[in-house]
Amino acid sequence: MIVTIDGPSGAGKTTVSKAVADELGFARLDTGALYRAVGLAARLAGVDADDQAAVAAWLPGLAIDARPQGGAFVVLHDGRDVEPLIRTEEMGAWASKLSAQAAVRQKLLELQRRAALAGDLVCEGRDMGTVVFPAAQAKFFLTARPEVRAARRLAELRPGDPTLTLERVLAEITSRDQRDSSRSQSPLKPAADAVIIDASELSPAQVTAQMVGRVRQLRKGD
Ligand code: DC
Repeated sequence: MIVTIDGPSGAGKTTVSKAVADELGFARLDTGALYRAVGLAARLAGVDADDQAAVAAWLPGLAIDARPQGGAFVVLHDGRDVEPLIRTEEMGAWASKLSAQAAVRQKLLELQRRAALAGDLVCEGRDMGTVVFPAAQAKFFLTARPEVRAARRLAELRPGDPTLTLERVLAEITSRDQRDSSRSQSPLKPAADAVIIDASELSPAQVTAQMVGRVRQLRKGD
């Protein structure tokens, strides 16, 4: 079974998808980490993320992989786990620019679909329910008001950057939302058959319970 969780940044997808996957005993794939890994690789290679021709020429030699490990997929660049390096606003911005390009999305498509071959999967991203797994049995679109998302992001990022302000995070979130939803390639939008959850007033535990409840209901109906 495939469970998709899409939505804008800071809505709580990562926390919730971990909890949902744990509770159901499913593997978990964070596809934002794949785009961030491409961003990291581009920066290391000195590729200009805005230069589409340069990005397209560089992609064939790019070695990104996702390896199952302890219930989750670990994202690798040249065989190395990128997790410690990709959770910054800078890598988020690189990922956002690169993810708007069709060649980058194409490069990651098969890799994402392969992850579902191993068994039950919870995957989070922007286009899981619309493009990557259109036939997924359980689809969710998790969102929250921009102010709420910015406050959450600030709490996550502040320890690493004490100078960060709410205004700056809110401005970054708003411009990333705009870029992710207005791009022509796999724009951020709910699948027609997705359950939309606004988490502005809900705790991660409440969102998790809603999702797990729905998946169990769907499984019973199988
Ligand atoms: O969820 P995140 O912040 O880690 O995602 C980083 C960027 O990657 C985000 O700007 C949008 C992009 N992304 C995407 O286009 N498609 C996905 N399935 C996942 C992420």
